[in-house]
Amino acid sequence: MSSSDAADLRSVLDALLDGVVVVDDEGAIRQLNAEACRILGSSSETVRGRPVEHLPGSECFAKGVRTVLADGASLVEHELVLPRRFDGDLVVDVAVSPLLDDASRRRGAVVLLRDRTLGTALRTALAERAQSVVLGSMAAGIAHEVRNPLAGIRGAAELLGARAAGDRDRQAAQLIVREVDRIAALLDDFMVFSRGDLLRLAPLNLHRVLDDVLDVLATDPLAARVSVTRRFDPSIPELLADGDRLMQLFLNLGRNALEAMEARPATLQIRTRLRLDHRLDVDGERVATVAVDVEDEGPGIPDSVREQIMTPFFTTKRSGTGLGLPLARHFAALHGGSLQIESKEGHGTLVRVSLPLRRAS
Ligand SMILES: Nc1ncnc2c1ncn2[C@@H]1O[C@H](COP(=O)(O)OP(=O)(O)O)[C@@H](O)[C@H]1O
Ligand SMILES: [Mg+2]
Repeated sequence: MSSSDAADLRSVLDALLDGVVVVDDEGAIRQLNAEACRILGSSSETVRGRPVEHLPGSECFAKGVRTVLADGASLVEHELVLPRRFDGDLVVDVAVSPLLDDASRRRGAVVLLRDRTLGTALRTALAERAQSVVLGSMAAGIAHEVRNPLAGIRGAAELLGARAAGDRDRQAAQLIVREVDRIAALLDDFMVFSRGDLLRLAPLNLHRVLDDVLDVLATDPLAARVSVTRRFDPSIPELLADGDRLMQLFLNLGRNALEAMEARPATLQIRTRLRLDHRLDVDGERVATVAVDVEDEGPGIPDSVREQIMTPFFTTKRSGTGLGLPLARHFAALHGGSLQIESKEGHGTLVRVSLPLRRAS
């Protein structure tokens, strides 16, 4: 092959939207195209000649390369997690095929890497939005069926209390009134799901909202021995959002964090970051996002509980409502954003809210 052919081939490889890694028959790296360099955070020059296992992030395909070099069959795997040292993990589809010479002898292998992170994130966001819609219609139905009888029960109980002959009867009537009020409060929370998808958008300073949230949380007795660190990214501009709902969202997350730390001396961290690399669709336009992290040093969320925490009414607390997280996610979804939780038992909990940076125009 002439050197201009080789240069042509390189520019073709670099133009591909998939990452390409070429290894020789001993598994040593020969070439990375531009997309592979981006995905793996490496450059062709620094890794050429090294065994494929030395390539950062190759955990998810190095074994496959060895198998293909050994038996010559192709391999395809979907949605593997590719760990990265300096950036967030990626989700990739991996295909490994043998590289044959003219006489069909094995000369090495080619790895194709397709970055699926965006597709996966989009699917998660869609599923979250679908859940919000279902919750909305459920909430409307429940509200209608339960509200009126509740008012009737409360009125009747008050009447009975007023006419009660003895203390015991009066206390029983008061108990009914109290419990009805508790159900009504729960219903109020839940009604938020049905109150339509209308956001009252206004330009706001996200950090001011977070400061307000922390001021409210500071009045909670659980906050007494908790120290709060704020790391706010000063490059975040004003954004269009619904301040009341954001406040509610972050109050729910902050309360969970305080409850998890149970008034022990511990730190609650609130961090914000403008992310130009992570974009979300807003009315057909891809806009940068703002990440707000709420991280606590509580006990974390056990795997056995993990799957259920987004289910309305699921709670592990004696007086919990089980609506804090589903509502928080609902508010994030209403803004076109998302809410993710990272938690390991014994290592605290990190909740990340991603909001699209809608600008006031
Ligand atoms: N920061 C956290 N640390 C540990 N567990 C948490 C945290 N946040 C939420 N959880 C778990 O998720 C469950 C649901 O949370 P939520 O929807 O806010 O309802 P509630 O707080 O009323 O229980 C909690 O009962 C708890 O088990
Ligand atoms: Mg809660």
